[in-house]
Amino acid sequence: MSEEAIVDLAALGEEFARDPHPTYAQLRGRGPVHRVLLPEGFTAWLVVGYEEARAALSDPRLSNDWRNSPGAADTEDDPWANPHMLISDPPRHTRLRKLVVREFTPRRVQALEPRVREVTDELIGAMLERADGRADLVRDFAFPLPAAIICELLGVPFDDRDKFHRWTTQVTKEWNGAEAEAALAELDGYLKELLDDKRARPGDDLLSGLVRRREEDEDALSDSEMVGLAVLLLVAGHETTTGLLSNGMLALLRHPDQLDALRADFSLLDAAVEEMLRHSGPTGTSLHRFTTEPVRIGDTDIPGGGELILIGNTPANRDPGRFPDPDRFDIRREAGGHLAFGHGIHACFGAPLARLEARTAVRSLLERCPDLALDADPARLAWYPSVMMRGLPRLPVRVRAVPDAGS
Ligand code: HEM
Repeated sequence: MSEEAIVDLAALGEEFARDPHPTYAQLRGRGPVHRVLLPEGFTAWLVVGYEEARAALSDPRLSNDWRNSPGAADTEDDPWANPHMLISDPPRHTRLRKLVVREFTPRRVQALEPRVREVTDELIGAMLERADGRADLVRDFAFPLPAAIICELLGVPFDDRDKFHRWTTQVTKEWNGAEAEAALAELDGYLKELLDDKRARPGDDLLSGLVRRREEDEDALSDSEMVGLAVLLLVAGHETTTGLLSNGMLALLRHPDQLDALRADFSLLDAAVEEMLRHSGPTGTSLHRFTTEPVRIGDTDIPGGGELILIGNTPANRDPGRFPDPDRFDIRREAGGHLAFGHGIHACFGAPLARLEARTAVRSLLERCPDLALDADPARLAWYPSVMMRGLPRLPVRVRAVPDAGS
């Protein structure tokens, strides 16, 4: 391949944050891998083709372990050093994932269903009570629903949710080295205290379950592994689901024919959620991968020694070679095989919970809010300036029609 200049995605500014797809389509037309400068402030190899992305996600020569990045500090004091499965390779990854999957059973997910319904109903009820019929679907719904559920799953007091929102947003979407590290350190300190509390007063939640295992099984998670897991679940399981609910509802509200079709036939619900994930999923890219030896992706040779690779879930899901007419939002299409939940050994194991929340949320919103409509020009909505996570800080809607509510 001829040497390509670095593609400066950061310079594309708000326009790219709002709609990255034309840029990704252009890049894909030139090849499946490009060297890019990200709005997050660093340079990486970005994989934009579907087949190449899928293959890269299960390529054992690409490491998730930060210790394979050039100049990584492997110190116990570094908050990033709290090991968790998403920043681990086998065999550590295999051990950590197995220990958690044992506790994160289908039964535990199913047991959360009544709570998902209850919180959904409460949140919709509160929005409908507003005199002006207006709401911010992120603040009033898409954020608090998964926040309540992940807190319930982990046994984190829901009163602390605002702190979590700040920490997890800083870590995922407003990436700024020093602030993100400070947020992570605060979250870390909080979770250490929480674990002490679980030890003293165990409940039915996941963290208590893991603490209990510790007493029975010496291979069980250590304290720092449990903190790492809790951080991972809070970040991975919370901002992502918020993004699915808000990006997905925006896609639906922008396509009234699809909205009407779904309202008329809720047997389309599962397919609609998959299409929301494919068309408007919240994970722009995978987490970092580092080369441990030279690799060839598409026609690009990438050196070994810790080159940073990001695998583009969002661009892969719009690859016309895999999904015909990929920019069309079509809840009847075969969206299976999308990469919104990743692929390979790190594929999201929270997917059943995310799907449960999305199906419940979307159906209840459509059933209880027959006049639900956007309350902003979709072309002017602000998006977080991140390539790794795609999300909206706000999504103004009208949850019910109010005569003379003005505009
Ligand atoms: C719509 C919601 C969600 C989306 C789009 C999503 C997406 C993803 C993706 C793309 C990965 C792989 C990242 C990579 O390979 O670099 C991942 C991993 C993971 N997700 Fe999710 N996720 C969602 C919700 C959740 C929930 C609700 C939980 C937990 C309750 C969760 C827990 C995890 C964990 C623990 C991993 C790491 C798995 C491993 O390294 O083996 N996620 N997720």
